[in-house]
Amino acid sequence: MEQPQHFDPKDFRQALGMFATGVTIVTTTAPDGTPVGVTANSFNSVSIDPPLVLWSLAKNARSLEAFTSGAHWNVHILAQEQEALSNLFARAGEDKFGQQQLEPGVSDAPLLPGCSARFQCKTMFQYDGGDHTIFVGEVLSYDRTQRPPLLYVTGQYALASRKALAVSTEPQADTAASLYSENLLGYLLGRAHYQFLGGIRAQLNERGLSDADFFVLSLLSVRAPLAGADIAAHIAYTGIDVGAVLLQQLCDRGLLQKKERDAYVLTFSGRDSILHVIAAAKAEEADVVERMGEAEAALLRNLLKQFIRVTDPGLPKLWTAPVSQ
Ligand SMILES: Cc1cc2nc3c(=O)[nH]c(=O)nc-3n(C[C@H](O)[C@H](O)[C@H](O)COP(=O)(O)O)c2cc1C
Repeated sequence: MEQPQHFDPKDFRQALGMFATGVTIVTTTAPDGTPVGVTANSFNSVSIDPPLVLWSLAKNARSLEAFTSGAHWNVHILAQEQEALSNLFARAGEDKFGQQQLEPGVSDAPLLPGCSARFQCKTMFQYDGGDHTIFVGEVLSYDRTQRPPLLYVTGQYALASRKALAVSTEPQADTAASLYSENLLGYLLGRAHYQFLGGIRAQLNERGLSDADFFVLSLLSVRAPLAGADIAAHIAYTGIDVGAVLLQQLCDRGLLQKKERDAYVLTFSGRDSILHVIAAAKAEEADVVERMGEAEAALLRNLLKQFIRVTDPGLPKLWTAPVSQ
């Protein structure tokens, strides 16, 4: 028999990491009744008829004995929102079930909610797999939801995106010769922004709100009271210079109220106006998300957050900073 190759473990791991997988948590119950679970991406399908799946567990895992001695285990295909749960179950031996809600299943193996899919299994075979033990299980029951799955590739969590859809809006001119092309991020971001805003323009017009008015009112619906200078600082990135004149006009129209120390809050009428516009924006968003798909929308949000982070000129924090009184 040929001698096994001795690869550099780190490099070998990195090469294996080029294979994108989902992320699962596999659970069982130890002989003393303790719930046990590990994060595993070695899960794979084996057979449709009979329904078989497999996964492998490191022989030095604390949970090994529970899995080798128990007859049942549940595989949870994690959803995008369950990254923290994945990290929790990837920690050796910790009390991983402290806060977890469990659901009843076909066996006494713990069944976690909120996943993309779940497979309740009974061990059919166990194989020696080098430094891992391979478990092949018969699927006794399964269920799935519409929640998009969490992925793992190159040692990092990732989101799934359909590749097949060509997103070209028109035939391309000679892009090599043209400085301005359909693929310019600036063009794509700008066009997406204005097309989306077009959907709520009717609401803004009906209420006589300019873009500047809209920005001020929506800012104050998230954080108030805010001083005039703080409002201007939050909105400066739009290129709109919010000055005392604009704020006074909004006060005169009964949309804002000026409190002590130059601090502004929404009036009842101001809140009512902005809530109607935001409701229209949410309806527009729901329509777009339905047309492009929930998974694509999650991916877009993620990419836009990255884009905003790397281009942030140092704006005041909108969602996390404490409200100044
Ligand atoms: C994304 C991800 C995938 C993992 N996949 C596996 C796997 O397939 N098999 C395995 O033995 N460990 C895997 N691990 C590591 C285990 O989750 C980790 O060693 C855990 O501490 C084992 O728990 P235990 O020691 O309490 O048994 C993975 C970790 C992460 C973050």
